[in-house]
Amino acid sequence: MSAPNKSYDPVEVEALKPEEIERMRDEAVAAFAAAGDLDALAHAKTAHTGGTSPLALANREIGALPPHAKAAAGKLVGQARGAVSKALAARQAELEAERDARVLVEEAVDVTLPYDRTPAGARHPLTTLMERVADVFVSMGYEVAEGPEVEAEWFNFDALNFVPDHPARQMQDTFFVQGTTPEGTAVTTGDESGVVLRTHTSPVQARTLIDREPPVYVVCPGRVYRTDELDATHTPVFHQIELLAVDEGLTMADLKGTLDHMVQALFGADMKTRLRPNFFPFTEPSAEMDMLCYVCRGESVGNPDRPCRTCGSEGWIELGGCGMVNPKVLTACGVDPEKYSGFAFGFGIERMLMFRHNVEDMRDMVEGDVRFTRPFGMEI
Ligand code: PHE
Repeated sequence: MSAPNKSYDPVEVEALKPEEIERMRDEAVAAFAAAGDLDALAHAKTAHTGGTSPLALANREIGALPPHAKAAAGKLVGQARGAVSKALAARQAELEAERDARVLVEEAVDVTLPYDRTPAGARHPLTTLMERVADVFVSMGYEVAEGPEVEAEWFNFDALNFVPDHPARQMQDTFFVQGTTPEGTAVTTGDESGVVLRTHTSPVQARTLIDREPPVYVVCPGRVYRTDELDATHTPVFHQIELLAVDEGLTMADLKGTLDHMVQALFGADMKTRLRPNFFPFTEPSAEMDMLCYVCRGESVGNPDRPCRTCGSEGWIELGGCGMVNPKVLTACGVDPEKYSGFAFGFGIERMLMFRHNVEDMRDMVEGDVRFTRPFGMEI
């Protein structure tokens, strides 16, 4: 180990002259005073208090001084650094206060301004009602199926056992889609094209049966088209919801139970349906389905003191069509009618919206006036 350096004879270091230290201090204080914002102050802080600032370097020099000079120099530098950090803290507080005052003005929010100048709007009641009906079936395990709105005539009519001269196939009832070349020249006219705007959601029955193996339980909500003029009770574009169940051993009793469950879920626990004989080419037997009037519950019938506007005192409201899937449809779609049977029903959403909410004119549903949709609220 080497002996202590007794002959150590330090030179007086330039940096530790009191005038120098004072100059450094004054420069630092002046730089802080000159900093116009917090960023500038941060720079000045690094320059005048950081590890390589003149005062920090001077502080380091103290170690190199002869012992007798250390205390005085230490005091000098210490006081200067104390004054510098005080000046820094004072300027920092000043600038922060300025910034806070400015932010309060610039970023002020007027909490009294109306927040809903741009109203969120509401979904169309047809959409929400259609979803609500579909949900009743989804909760029973049905799946939602979809099909195209521009449909092959075969799916819309042939597969569903419509005879070739069925009146629905005529152009006054059905929109036919004309075929065109890419240049836009017509290659087919009217009812030759084999392509229609679907007139009901029943073609989804055929599509589903071709796509899937039974058991099949599907619900199909969708838009359909007929060549009706728009008036209070008709619209050329409307919505239907279709139901199809195909399984082993399904009977008309299953159909009736399903219909009853649906109207109870939508209109109340004491609701029920009734079936009246009807004809559809794709169901056999077929029926028209009515539901008990949900307003008078049938009590207006034969009761002139309590007339009911909703059902016209009939006690029942007509809802749509239903029946057991015609074995010919099952065969056309590759399902063995000896093994499987099925039921189907379909009804119009517009009609249900009309009687469920006392909408008197169908045109209100298509005109897009928010004064019509808003009272239904934002149902998700
Ligand atoms: N598709 C029929 C219509 O538009 C309704 C229906 C559906 C009837 C399913 C029976 C079975 O009128």
